Amino acid sequence: MKKAADLPYALTAEVTHRCPLHCPYCSNPVELQRRESELSTDEWCRVLDQAGELGVAQVHFTGGEPLLRPDLERLVGRARENGLYVNLITSGVGLTEERVRQLKEAGVDSVQLSVQAPNAELSDSIAGFRAHELKRQAAARIRASGLPLHMNVVLHRANLPLLEEMIELCEEWGAERLELANAQYYGWALRNISQLLPTREQLEEAEAVYARAKERIGDRIELLWILPDYYEQYPKPCMGGWGRLSLTVAPDGRVLPCTASSDIRTLVFENVKERELAWIWHESPSFNAYRGYDWMPEPCRSCERKEHDYGGCRCQAFLLTGDARATDPVCVRSPHRSAVAERVRSAAGADAATADYIYRGLEPVELRRSRA
Ligand code: SF4
Ligand code: FES
Repeated sequence: MKKAADLPYALTAEVTHRCPLHCPYCSNPVELQRRESELSTDEWCRVLDQAGELGVAQVHFTGGEPLLRPDLERLVGRARENGLYVNLITSGVGLTEERVRQLKEAGVDSVQLSVQAPNAELSDSIAGFRAHELKRQAAARIRASGLPLHMNVVLHRANLPLLEEMIELCEEWGAERLELANAQYYGWALRNISQLLPTREQLEEAEAVYARAKERIGDRIELLWILPDYYEQYPKPCMGGWGRLSLTVAPDGRVLPCTASSDIRTLVFENVKERELAWIWHESPSFNAYRGYDWMPEPCRSCERKEHDYGGCRCQAFLLTGDARATDPVCVRSPHRSAVAERVRSAAGADAATADYIYRGLEPVELRRSRA
């Protein structure tokens, strides 16, 4: 009999990678799935049933843009039938009044809306799409429906200096919760790191802005600050530990310990088309690869911090060293720390203006800012 702590708490259901936006820091893997390979409605319903049986408590419907799935309401309804709390993560593009009403009726409990910058010009330029005004309308519709509005801003060199305006905009739009998430450098963000990574000075100023805002706002809005780990001494306990708390189902049905992990080429991820979710969670080699402490090399193996940070992020270790077992290079004790230090050094000398982004997209072309 497994202990409750061994069961996943949350399921991230990446129902599609299709998206009208092209954010250069997108958390989707660089190799995006096409529509033809997406799970069908019935296959997703089976995943949600199995998640309920496994003891999952909440599901985050995300993408890409989940609203592009016309069956989203059916999937939301199925999640609710399985007793799951349902959070919808959206760009807001396509969120008509009718769609909000239907989604609420189907069982959505909260909506998380992303926003790129406090003004349309910069926002649209970051997203590679004219989305800002549509987001404003979406926020108003979510509020009018009575659903809690949670907002999320990914922070980087182009919008960090506007943090105060950003927080004010989210207050004005009626956010109940605001996640200020410094970009994490995997996948698309790693591709664009020379345009995105802020300087230490920018970060320190932004942190002071955040602290003042937190004091002013009090508990009126739940404000969260997600650290930029490149400027830390020690890594974050990424995902609360590999395969400990949550799982992600990719659009094609592969089950991942985290969204970015499909970029780890040395692991094979099982698919819900072939295996039950419970088997994948408990038994699969990919989920067991970095559980516990036995897999750890030195210096993690004999480090007093390992029970706190689990050796950091496996995806970051793979992307920066080619070895997913390696100590996260963010750690000052890592033999690969120079991989992070060099990037931080080059950010210090870089131009503060946004240069050309490599926009996220299904096409292997480099979409430029002119798309906005
Ligand atoms: Fe964490 Fe490993 Fe660094 Fe210790 S050596 S702080 S366990 S990453
Ligand atoms: Fe995958 Fe950190 S993002 S383990």
